[in-house]
Amino acid sequence: MDQRKPLIAGNWKMNLSIPEGITLARTLREELQGINTPNVLVAPPFTFLSSLWEIIKGSGILLGAQNMHWEDFGAFTGEISGKMLMEVGCTHVILGHSERRHVFRETDDMIDKKVKKAFELGLTPILCIGETLEEREAGKTFHILEKQLSCSLATIIEKASLPNDLILAYEPVWAIGTGRTATPQQAQEAHKFVREWIEENFGEKSAQDIRILYGGSVKPDNIASLMAMPDIDGALVGGASLKAESFLGIIRYEV
Ligand code: PGA
Repeated sequence: MDQRKPLIAGNWKMNLSIPEGITLARTLREELQGINTPNVLVAPPFTFLSSLWEIIKGSGILLGAQNMHWEDFGAFTGEISGKMLMEVGCTHVILGHSERRHVFRETDDMIDKKVKKAFELGLTPILCIGETLEEREAGKTFHILEKQLSCSLATIIEKASLPNDLILAYEPVWAIGTGRTATPQQAQEAHKFVREWIEENFGEKSAQDIRILYGGSVKPDNIASLMAMPDIDGALVGGASLKAESFLGIIRYEV
């Protein structure tokens, strides 16, 4: 029995201007009003957060950030804390995105500290994992997923209980921003592996409850076939979340 509510999350990355973001958020709010859709979340750049919160609060659209530091305050030039994100309406934070891991050299240890802090604060992490093309071609996909999960959730594993609002996002690095989506079967195979790993480490209930999003070149024309897979519970959308038409096309998928 599948009771997991789908989530479609838009990761705007370092794109748009504040007026463009406001227009996009207004359109989403108007178009989604009173309609029974999946949960919808937007994760804009930091400087947009407070203006966007004014627009979407009360609408049911969730606000997320794209990253955070693991300390609350301090001498960390250029960083932002989870506490600061909560002050501007964030309930969610994307952690361990592949661009953070590969471009900014974030390690699993840093991500583990961020996940731990997010839970302490009551912010819901969307923890991203995924293999590179090289790793996939070397047959190491499951090994990489297992390593990223066990290292990024090291502190949570020690506690032996999975906070029930953790969200995972499987994002194969080779599919992000490339137009090359994983096939629904490739994505399902990875999601099933991740769910089984959750079951081994945290038990059957956690495995059944956890939402695992797919990310990597999700578009209106491929969302339905991905969502038809039993272990895919939503999508983390980059490029196609920047325009109302394509993001709404994804939100309104029909399996
Ligand atoms: P994409 O990005 O949809 O542009 O491939 C997904 C992501 O990085 O979250």
